[in-house]
Amino acid sequence: MACKTHSAPLVGQRPNSQLIYASACSVTPGGVNSPVRAFKHVGMLPIVVDYGKGDLITDVDGNAYIDYCGSWGALILGHAPSSVLDAVADQMKRGTSYGATTPIEAIFAERLLRHLPHVDKIRFVSSGTEAVMSAVRLAKGFTKRTKIMKFEGNYHGHSDVLMHEALVLPYNDIAAAQEFFRKTPDLAAVVIEPIAGNMGLVPATLEFLEMLRVETQKIGALLIFDEVISGFRVGLEGAQGLYGIMPDLSCFGKIIGGGFPAAAFGGRQEIMDCLAPLGSVFQAGTLSGNPVAMRAGFATLLEIEKEGFYEKLQAKADLLVLPIQEEIARRGLPACLQAAGSMFTLFFGMNSVAKKEKLDEERFKDFFQYLFARGVLFPPCAYEVAFISSAHTTQHLVKTRDLILEYFDVAF
Ligand SMILES: Cc1ncc(COP(=O)(O)O)c(C=O)c1O
Repeated sequence: MACKTHSAPLVGQRPNSQLIYASACSVTPGGVNSPVRAFKHVGMLPIVVDYGKGDLITDVDGNAYIDYCGSWGALILGHAPSSVLDAVADQMKRGTSYGATTPIEAIFAERLLRHLPHVDKIRFVSSGTEAVMSAVRLAKGFTKRTKIMKFEGNYHGHSDVLMHEALVLPYNDIAAAQEFFRKTPDLAAVVIEPIAGNMGLVPATLEFLEMLRVETQKIGALLIFDEVISGFRVGLEGAQGLYGIMPDLSCFGKIIGGGFPAAAFGGRQEIMDCLAPLGSVFQAGTLSGNPVAMRAGFATLLEIEKEGFYEKLQAKADLLVLPIQEEIARRGLPACLQAAGSMFTLFFGMNSVAKKEKLDEERFKDFFQYLFARGVLFPPCAYEVAFISSAHTTQHLVKTRDLILEYFDVAF
């Protein structure tokens, strides 16, 4: 699938990236510290970043890209926002970690909880993996049961329990889940991404989530919402606010760390108080509630709480998303753009995420390469979500939109 036209200057060669990646490969498996960064799905030399500012990320060869990866959804304010940098710099002068309580932990927790009416208490950890793994351990301790249910295509981090030990059911399949609940009254918990972001963007249906809420309550199992992506992304109250469903435990990450390693899990007091030191469920972390990460997260929260923040973000998303959806529909293209607020996935080879069609991964690869060559960075995998930040400028959104429409002309 050759690229025939181009309306934007092509990015230059990447000799520095090549050298650095080669040396990384000799000391790190695949040259990366998280697999998708290796660009294996798109068959290219990965990006090696020099710096990021606003909606741009610049590689070590001086090529700038409009960034829709946004550190996999963490950077809702874009790169290096001054409010976050100031807060972090202030904290760093006072020390970066103490392994002891600091005032910002309770201040930040209280402020987060204002937006989460179903969460009485929260505990901070350092990654989304840790948040979900800890929530699951807590659910097992609270219910005194061991079985965990999750759904196909959902990702909850790389803990054994969620990668291999949980019972897996089809997402959005009410009949299959009901049948499972009938046969498994001794279930400890159901874990779900209420808006799935790890098979591309696929929102759960309201009926499905309502059914999970009712059925888990019937058998005394806990409902755990993994809102590591959707939390503070689709709105301050996350997917639970959007759907109006009350989970027993919720997990957050990405945005609440403001670009630093922080995540959290929380829920009703009677459940959370089973954690050590009050209860018998052990959970701990050397860097949990790290003050630099807390200050970054808190500074981010103050920005996203500002009047009209999410409305403006939605307007930015609409600028990019709506014309593409219209073009797909107008021309009947074999594609589908699924969006939720400021996140979206452009699926190739299928017309609706409700149908279980096979994705055209080769087409995605070609699409990714086309945009990358013209200075636009999408997440380098067909099963990921692209993120728009408050730093995305109209000019860059329009450029991206036009390049995608141009790609449709070239490809179809
Ligand atoms: C929904 C969801 N849960 C959990 C995780 C794991 O988070 P982390 O990568 O911070 O460990 C991710 C990571 O992308 C995620 O998307």
